[in-house]
Amino acid sequence: MLGLNVLREEFEQRFGANGDKSRIFFAPGRVNLIGEHTDFTGGYVLPAALTYGTWAMVRRRSDRIVHLASTSFSGIAEFTTDEVVYRQEDGWANYPKGVLAEFKKLGLPLSGCDILFEGNIPKGAGLSSSASIEMVTAIAVKCLEGLELTSVDLTRLAQRAENQFVGVNCGIMDQFASGMGKAGHAILLKCDTLAYRYVPLSLGEYQLVITNSNKQRSLTESNYNQRRLECEEGIRVLQNYLLDFTCLGNVTVEQWRSVQGKVKTPEVRKRLEHIIRENDRTLVSTKALEAGNLQAFGDFMTQSHESLRDFYEVTGKELDALFEEARQVSGCIGTRMTGAGFGGCTVSLVHQEAIDDFKTQVSKRYEGRTGLIPEFYICDCGDGARNYRGGR
Ligand code: GLA
Repeated sequence: MLGLNVLREEFEQRFGANGDKSRIFFAPGRVNLIGEHTDFTGGYVLPAALTYGTWAMVRRRSDRIVHLASTSFSGIAEFTTDEVVYRQEDGWANYPKGVLAEFKKLGLPLSGCDILFEGNIPKGAGLSSSASIEMVTAIAVKCLEGLELTSVDLTRLAQRAENQFVGVNCGIMDQFASGMGKAGHAILLKCDTLAYRYVPLSLGEYQLVITNSNKQRSLTESNYNQRRLECEEGIRVLQNYLLDFTCLGNVTVEQWRSVQGKVKTPEVRKRLEHIIRENDRTLVSTKALEAGNLQAFGDFMTQSHESLRDFYEVTGKELDALFEEARQVSGCIGTRMTGAGFGGCTVSLVHQEAIDDFKTQVSKRYEGRTGLIPEFYICDCGDGARNYRGGR
């Protein structure tokens, strides 16, 4: 984060100084360890919150005007709490706006405020910078207005903002990880009931390394929604053959084996094959992690990537190149794409003594294959959305 004084100066430069107190909130991005593209069909995911994220310096106003600004962009989005509507030209500001719109739907009278956002999540990397902006806004509004909402309520509210206001049909994973993260832990979450438990990340001599492919993810949204449509087609077939069908996340591998032949469209069959096996993999790999069997956990990560490549088909040449090169490095015991795919990042489990080799070798070979220069982040897992400074 910018130093506190620098942030305050920026804040006062944009919104003026009036002697009123401001507060600072924080919400992190996330990395998903396993359980990919399973959230919107009620399955299992295993994400962890990062220590990277978005800070929001917030000052309440006595009128109903809202000002939103970011240290990464020029300009200020201005509107009143009476009229919170999507506007293309507001760009990134539509994410916090969507959250305000959802608070309004709850029938809550909202006062105006000035908010300056500052983030350090690499952009377009698939590490959930948008969820972190939503969650930091949600926790700020909750605290400023003194609302009785749980952290889980806020994650649902932020997801609705993204689905309905911004128009991205994402599942709950990103907002949940950003809102509910716990330092040193991943979260095993069942996405239909939101039942969850924290899983300690006791990695011994290993570390999680995130590699950014630096491939822009321009096609992600349309492909993401396309995959969702294919899944819905599959669900319609399964509903006819599995009497107790509730959601894809509850279909066992055995049940799937008995009905997969009924799904006639090959693409649809492949998408379901990924999701149902990935749910199973998420559960067994979590057990392996809890038992301290990192080798097995790493193998499951690798299988997850292969399934996303061969069945769900969301990896693409850059992520596959990172995956293949990471596997060549001795000391890397598991690697996979993380997030929506088609670009963005991989996450790898690497022995701490092999990290330098990992960076050098993957960089060199990946650049040779794609012409792109990757970036590496050692992944520390932090706490979820919170009051950062000022107030309780
Ligand atoms: C994106 C979405 C999430 C989830 C992942 C894939 O990050 O926002 O809801 O579906 O893709 O696992």
